[in-house]
Amino acid sequence: MARAEWGSRLGFVLAAAGSAIGLGAIWKFPYITAQNGGGAFLLIFLLLVFTLGISLMIAEMLVGSVTKKSPVGAYRKLGGRTWSLVGYIGVLCGFLILSFYSVVGGWTIAYIVKSVDGAILTADPKVLSGIFSTFIADPVEPLWYHALFMGVTAGVILAGVQKGIEQVSKYLMIMLFLLILVLIGRAITLPGAIDGVLTFLNPDFSKVNARMVIEAMGLAFFSMSLGMGCMITYGSYASDDTYVPHSAGSVITLTTLICFLSGLMVFPAVFVFGFDPSAGPGLTFITMPAVFSQMGGGQFFGVLFFFLLFVAALTSSVSLMEVVVSFFIDEFNCRRTPTTIVMSILMFVLGIAASLSLGVWNDYKFFGKNFFDILDYVSSNLIMPFGGIMVAVLVGWKSWTLVSERLASKGKHPWWLPLLKWFLRIIAPIMIFVVLLQNL
Ligand code: PFF
Repeated sequence: MARAEWGSRLGFVLAAAGSAIGLGAIWKFPYITAQNGGGAFLLIFLLLVFTLGISLMIAEMLVGSVTKKSPVGAYRKLGGRTWSLVGYIGVLCGFLILSFYSVVGGWTIAYIVKSVDGAILTADPKVLSGIFSTFIADPVEPLWYHALFMGVTAGVILAGVQKGIEQVSKYLMIMLFLLILVLIGRAITLPGAIDGVLTFLNPDFSKVNARMVIEAMGLAFFSMSLGMGCMITYGSYASDDTYVPHSAGSVITLTTLICFLSGLMVFPAVFVFGFDPSAGPGLTFITMPAVFSQMGGGQFFGVLFFFLLFVAALTSSVSLMEVVVSFFIDEFNCRRTPTTIVMSILMFVLGIAASLSLGVWNDYKFFGKNFFDILDYVSSNLIMPFGGIMVAVLVGWKSWTLVSERLASKGKHPWWLPLLKWFLRIIAPIMIFVVLLQNL
């Protein structure tokens, strides 16, 4: 059977942007930025995204589009058998991420419901924090939503990514973008909002430390879907006339824009209503309802916001599941339907542990972190950066001739080609390695 292909170049960009833009940009970015004090973190994040992020995005997409294979096969084809190990690790990483990602995806569905019944329409920080922490610590309720989210993700994978999600996400992502603009409009005109905006934008360099750089790099990998082979898989469906650097540039720019706008949306509320900026994973879920409570039609906007957040999460979770499922299809000739069902169940089960670790199992800690945080930390801050080093080395050293031919073909001689080459060869691996070292 011929390998699947995106319907158009734009379709490719939107699908890849759909993978990148998700809970990372809208849920993780604001709270991690807030925990790290705002502006300085934002600057480091931007710096990393527009150096490391863009080069690795180009590298991953190229590996996919040159080999037309999913990660394990792609690494094997370009690097040999030992390299396929990197692909296996990427698949494992997708598995780990989706298991806790689906828990948070479930929260978005729960918050659609809570917006419909109006329970969260208040500006009282105590009430909102209370609702959130009671909900996520409940041993049963979040699991239903987790199951539902995993089920919908599996359903999309079974129905086929291209026709379903590619079409749907196109329109809903535009809606998400417009809604964020409306919400920013409300948030920044609240009295006292300026303090939030300033904290978000004003870099205080005295706050910069090694921890912060580690966090920024992990966040960059996570929110750009890099380092685990997702962009290899998506790149492998790109047609030969796709000029990968353009697509990569668009995806990075769009995703960064959404991160930035999410910050502008969440930060003002933190200061206006007196939320704790270091509230952590609940930040978006507890500050946004306060903004809705101050708007005409707040209930409507609440439902719409959490619905669009759900869609953003879904287009990402689908890409995570596709990496896992396509691995079994490509490597072991498994059939799509049973593979999807079995993998979803396994990831659901692991996710149960992640969800319970926020409540009844919160006392079980490893290295001071609960299981949910461990999954997140190991995948974003260890495995993905590791994958980043490997793809940089592979493309920069082993496959540069092959890959650069692709970049310089059709009469194009991009001026930045040598820059990319040396960045991938030397700077990126060293940069990531140094940060990883700090980690350990
Ligand atoms: N980039 C997604 C987000 O920010 O929500 C998460 C993600 C998707 C990470 C796909 C990795 C990946 F391969």
